[in-house]
Amino acid sequence: MNTSADAARCTPLVLGVLISGSGTNLQAIIDRIAEGQLPAKIAVVISNVASAKGLDRARRAEIPTVVLDHKAFPSRAAFDEKMVETLRAHDVECVVLAGFMRIVTKVLLDAFPYRVINIHPSLLPAFPGVNAQAQAVAYGVRISGCTAHFVDAGTDTGPVIAQRSVDVFERDDEESLRKRILREEHVLLPAVLGWIARGWLEVDTSGGGRPRVRLNPSNP
Ligand code: GRF
Repeated sequence: MNTSADAARCTPLVLGVLISGSGTNLQAIIDRIAEGQLPAKIAVVISNVASAKGLDRARRAEIPTVVLDHKAFPSRAAFDEKMVETLRAHDVECVVLAGFMRIVTKVLLDAFPYRVINIHPSLLPAFPGVNAQAQAVAYGVRISGCTAHFVDAGTDTGPVIAQRSVDVFERDDEESLRKRILREEHVLLPAVLGWIARGWLEVDTSGGGRPRVRLNPSNP
């Protein structure tokens, strides 16, 4: 789903970043933008947790922040409606789930088709859902990693954009693996956003099966 608007882009891709916690992935995006490596702008950071440390990171970078407490809404859909309203009010083009611990609904997905990206700390389809690193350690895999994917209606089931792997050692526990994977997340997520910003990602939905994501750096 590469669009001519993407391909002809010369203005920064406008991002809305959704967080619930420490926001180290948010920081990686902020840093790559500041270094001129990622042609994007974060228009708003939304957190469903008022105490999320990531909000401080956003404030330090002078990015507008909004706290939306999901508990104040009668349903997931109502919460997502408010998020869509907030994202649209900031002219967001692409939504990044960067440690956002809520399941999103069709309301958000339909508002941003193939424009909601998640970063997950495993090599999907292995270990979806919460505690992916603990699942990997408990299973005894020797390779794990992270996945950037478009979000669909399932839990961590959307089309894979790209992955990075890490070794898993005998001595690893959840925390040591979490840290090793996180370093790769900080490389992968800004890189993928850069491909989107440059109009290099194509989503092929013609096959009848799972949509395929292709990287086509020859797009202008
Ligand atoms: C990351 O491990 C990410 O993969 C997962 O939640 C964590 C968020 O970390 N979805 P941070 O808030 O970006 O530091």
